[in-house]
Amino acid sequence: MKPLASRTLNLKQSGIRAVTQMVNEHNGINMGQGICDLPTPEAVQQGAIDAIRQNKSIYSYHSGIPKLRAHTAEKFSTFNGIPCDAEREVMITSGSTGAFVAACLATLEPGDEVIQFEPFYGYHVQLLKVLGFKPVFVPMSDRSWNIDFDALEKAITPKTKAIVVTNPGNPNGKVWTKKELETLLKVLQKHDLWAYTDEVYEYMTYDGNKHLSLASLPDAFERTITISSFSKTFNMTGWRMGSSVAPEQVIEKMGLLSDLIYICPPTPLQHGLSEAFGMPSSYFEDLGKDYDQKRTQFCDALREAGFEFEMPEGAYYVFASFEKLHKEYGLAGFDNDENACRTLIEQTGIGSVPGRSFYADPEKGRYYLRFCYAKEQPVLDDACHRLRDFGKKLKVEQG
Ligand SMILES: Cc1ncc(COP(=O)(O)O)c(C=O)c1O
Repeated sequence: MKPLASRTLNLKQSGIRAVTQMVNEHNGINMGQGICDLPTPEAVQQGAIDAIRQNKSIYSYHSGIPKLRAHTAEKFSTFNGIPCDAEREVMITSGSTGAFVAACLATLEPGDEVIQFEPFYGYHVQLLKVLGFKPVFVPMSDRSWNIDFDALEKAITPKTKAIVVTNPGNPNGKVWTKKELETLLKVLQKHDLWAYTDEVYEYMTYDGNKHLSLASLPDAFERTITISSFSKTFNMTGWRMGSSVAPEQVIEKMGLLSDLIYICPPTPLQHGLSEAFGMPSSYFEDLGKDYDQKRTQFCDALREAGFEFEMPEGAYYVFASFEKLHKEYGLAGFDNDENACRTLIEQTGIGSVPGRSFYADPEKGRYYLRFCYAKEQPVLDDACHRLRDFGKKLKVEQG
């Protein structure tokens, strides 16, 4: 066989699948993968079923059906504070991932550099590489996840074209403050850069941390491609529904690129999703409250198991350090992230994601595991129980 394209050489299935297999073997609970197991709202399900029955099954306009674009524009204007034109500045995409690909292709030349804060969401980095762009990493401070703006300035070269901002963050749950976004905007303006903002966890913020969209700041819209998703908000990761708002010229090209790559988001599912906008505002309040309670419950149990971390400010992950388990308690099997992931499954059945998945240099993620607490309540209760038992045994062993 002729060799495959060089861009595929470093592509491999992430370790998440291996974790899933191990968890199943131990009859355990997978807190690794970032999927929530809650149901899609009934009205949305019914809307899609009705659309299929009514044969609304042909290609839609590449940027989405007008009804859904109008609802989404309204949401961008009111929730995100980004006033926009539904027809020209908003598009529906195949998940936020589809929007990210279109944004990169619409704004970058081959070899262009894109700044990525570490720890990062792996798809951004892998996609940049596969598409022929170069991610450049700027670390956030450990545990408190502050941005070092001096380091950011130093990382910018004449080839830098864009900065990726994942807000709220995955894996660390960081919610960007207004001050941080304002400082970032100055950097963007000074170097004439784009920002791609991944805001897929925008409805999940805690402890008074408010989600703020970069594009809502004065003069930010013209250089920001705001990327959002319906996956997490309405528990529909498999539906592949996302959206983007950006200046007209950008959305026009992103739409044409999406057309070439996948033509349009699935039409009947767009009709189903349109029903989500009829839901009362209490849906979003309950969503926030529910995740907040789950976050507190899971974080308490994780702490009792000896893990250390700052409380996540947003999203539904905890990026926790087990350095103490290794260095202070001398616990076997916790000398690095992959071993710790395996040992935790063997001892508690709980699956997680090794920290190295979120860093360019695996050593930086050596003492971290990421847990996703978007689980149905009985499953989460079971997970917390297992972690507490682990913590109790640890205390007995440590005397
Ligand atoms: C930060 C972040 N962005 C994007 C995605 C994927 O979103 P979508 O399903 O809309 O493509 C995820 C999924 O876990 C994520 O964590």
